[in-house]
Amino acid sequence: MMLTLANVSKHYDGTTPRNVLRGVNLELRSGECVAIMGESGAGKSTLLNLAAGLDRPDAGHIVFDGHDLGALDDDAATLQRRQKMGFVFQAFHVLPNLTAAQNIALPLLLNGIRAKDVPARVSSVLHAVGLGGRERALPRELSGGELQRVAIARALVHQPRLVLADEPTGNLDHDTAMRILALLRELAQKNGAGVLLATHSGAVSAAADRVLRLTPAGLEPYTPGAGGA
Ligand SMILES: Nc1ncnc2c1ncn2[C@@H]1O[C@H](COP(=O)(O)OP(=O)(O)OP(=O)(O)O)[C@@H](O)[C@H]1O
Ligand SMILES: [Mg+2]
Repeated sequence: MMLTLANVSKHYDGTTPRNVLRGVNLELRSGECVAIMGESGAGKSTLLNLAAGLDRPDAGHIVFDGHDLGALDDDAATLQRRQKMGFVFQAFHVLPNLTAAQNIALPLLLNGIRAKDVPARVSSVLHAVGLGGRERALPRELSGGELQRVAIARALVHQPRLVLADEPTGNLDHDTAMRILALLRELAQKNGAGVLLATHSGAVSAAADRVLRLTPAGLEPYTPGAGGA
């Protein structure tokens, strides 16, 4: 199993303390795409943050690629994330003053890929997302869908084992969203990467191999029409 969440719980202190996740279990295989649905505030982003090792559960275990994330110190968790995970977020996080190519090159540079090998790998993944030749475009010169494709290219350029996507198509029209999702899946599958994606969209989740619904009772198989979003 590439990613296992076993009995994971997460509690937030703060102004209104709450148990967000309670005894959540999840198994994700290589090459598999699992969609997590659930209403706003259900804990989808919390779950992705835990899977990324960005935050720690209060109880339970998260095992990624053979490593218990809870047993790693911050530096070791960062290394796992940098080398083996890719991220796509709704708000893009594409840096505005860098070109498309420079944005996509970031994971390669962070992983110490030789500078002379970077342009070819960037061009190849840009081509794969249908933006061949747009290396020098600045984010402000790209459409929403094109920007999201840059974000996907950046999430996949270092061939991660796991792609975590939080509302990856949230601000795109339906047709563009479906195309981009298909692209994400295709590229991830080519690398044998697992994809864990959080979405409100039934259409988006229908494109996943499995759909789970996050409720206060935990993660359960999602049945369309049974009170889902
Ligand atoms: N750092 C934090 N401190 C305190 N509470 C938090 C924190 N982060 C999230 N929460 C709370 O935890 C709950 C789950 O938040 P989370 O962002 O995981 O939900 P979500 O399912 O991703 O929602 P959405 O669909 O709106 O993105 C929410 O009630 C939120 O207010
Ligand atoms: Mg969220």
